[in-house]
Amino acid sequence: MGKVLYSVTMSLDGFIAGPGGDMSWMTEHLGPNPEVDEVIGKIGALLVGNRTFRGDDPYKGVAAKEGKFAGGGWTGPQFVLTHHAPDTPVPDVTFVGDLDSGVAAAKAAAGDKYVNVLGASTARQCLDAGVLDEILVLIAPVLLGDGVRLFDRPGGTNVKLERISLTHTPQATNLWLRVAG
Ligand SMILES: NC(=O)c1ccc[n+]([C@@H]2O[C@H](COP(=O)([O-])OP(=O)(O)OC[C@H]3O[C@@H](n4cnc5c(N)ncnc54)[C@H](OP(=O)(O)O)[C@@H]3O)[C@@H](O)[C@H]2O)c1
Repeated sequence: MGKVLYSVTMSLDGFIAGPGGDMSWMTEHLGPNPEVDEVIGKIGALLVGNRTFRGDDPYKGVAAKEGKFAGGGWTGPQFVLTHHAPDTPVPDVTFVGDLDSGVAAAKAAAGDKYVNVLGASTARQCLDAGVLDEILVLIAPVLLGDGVRLFDRPGGTNVKLERISLTHTPQATNLWLRVAG
């Protein structure tokens, strides 16, 4: 079975989206990143929170890229967590009503590749459930001041992380970590 990876771009002050889910801040940090290219080739399925699925897009206004994961650099099965599945089917998307079913279905679809998690709440739930194996944070050189935190866990317990790698591009510092328990 493959692993569960949370890959995400974060501001230096710990936010993955601005106030109201704004993602326009990220657009200027989307330059070439070999670490991202490498990981995209290893992703077999996405596990996505519905606020991410329906939310803002850093590629907004770019016709060929808007609404696609990694700007269309990856295609494949997506499992979207929601209590409000739409009546109309969406290509490549399966709507799932609880975390355990979503993780199981995404892992089955991913085979020996990564399940890539998108969405802060979804990632936090994976961490709390003990199913999150790795975290790849692209730290963008910007302060947002407010918004959606990387891991918002008030009263949360200590989680040990081990560094797998640390690399740089002009747009970001890439910190790849293993969840050690
Ligand atoms: N910086 C980055 O790289 C990056 C990447 C991805 C996303 N983002 C941003 O992160 C923000 C979204 O994160 P978020 O934490 O607000 O939300 P999220 O995790 O994307 O989605 C939360 C929603 O998913 C559904 N959900 C979550 N857990 C569920 C469960 N156990 N069972 C059933 N449904 C469940 C619920 O939708 P329903 O209300 O429909 O039930 C919930 O409201 C967005 O602003 C997005 O743009 C940033």
